[in-house]
Amino acid sequence: MAYCGGSISLPESLVDKLRGARSIAVLTGSGVSAESGVPTFREAQTGLWERYDPHELATPEAYQRDPKLVWEWYSWRRELVERAAPNPGHAALAELERNLIGGFVLITQNVDGLHRRAGSQHVLELHGNIMRSLCPIEEVIVEPSKDDDSIPPSCPGCGAFLRPDVVWFGEALPAGPLEEAFRAARGCDLFISAGTSGLVHPAASLPFEALRSGAVLVEINPNDTPLTRHADYALRGRAGEALPKLVAATFGEDRKESLGR
Ligand code: APR
Repeated sequence: MAYCGGSISLPESLVDKLRGARSIAVLTGSGVSAESGVPTFREAQTGLWERYDPHELATPEAYQRDPKLVWEWYSWRRELVERAAPNPGHAALAELERNLIGGFVLITQNVDGLHRRAGSQHVLELHGNIMRSLCPIEEVIVEPSKDDDSIPPSCPGCGAFLRPDVVWFGEALPAGPLEEAFRAARGCDLFISAGTSGLVHPAASLPFEALRSGAVLVEINPNDTPLTRHADYALRGRAGEALPKLVAATFGEDRKESLGR
């Protein structure tokens, strides 16, 4: 494993592998959105939500018990996300998709929608999207009616309490995106795991699936994770710095700079 710390310079061998890859798959976690000011999932919550543990709020049981509290938590997170802007890490992944037409799959655990706002077209949202609301009875995405100021709002169709369109602990991930994510992990030449602690399955299994299928594994994270020792390249740093360097190196612009020369 090549370990690159400090200000990230990419090993020549990694640049060669990036440039030779026919298909690249990327898994992102909340660390990729951290530089947009969206707290990572396991970072301490702030303000009035400080005393709540996300693991206790992001569950069907919490919603059954106190739908108002859970809806207000998600409203607070939505406002955070709406104020956030995509960062250079998001932009780099959108550029990778544009340049690797057909040879690139972006898989995210993030529910903030920042990849799409950065221009990524095809995003596998394994844990849903906080900006969408779902009717749990009709199982359809619903826009709450403008004049419904109840908390939570009710489905205009059947009157049920709406919920955020996200996957809660204990719930199944959307089958389609999950199958496509595993297919991408098995079929890629190079897999990048960026900004995730790698603690939550099944998403955390994807990099190992890629390794088993012979892919080169790159991790981008300022900290060690359970994946680090398995990675061919552990880039110890911020996604907002590493991803633009990877993209510049892959497509040749300022190649010397991305190699830290
Ligand atoms: N660049 C890259 N990585 C970063 C950055 C950064 N600027 N800042 C923090 N990180 C790393 C942290 O070191 C940590 O390993 O991002 C990771 C964030 O880990 P978590 O907070 O556990 O978030 P994530 O891995 O996305 O959680 C996965 O778990 O709780 C569920 O559904 C929730 O989608 C979430 C899933």
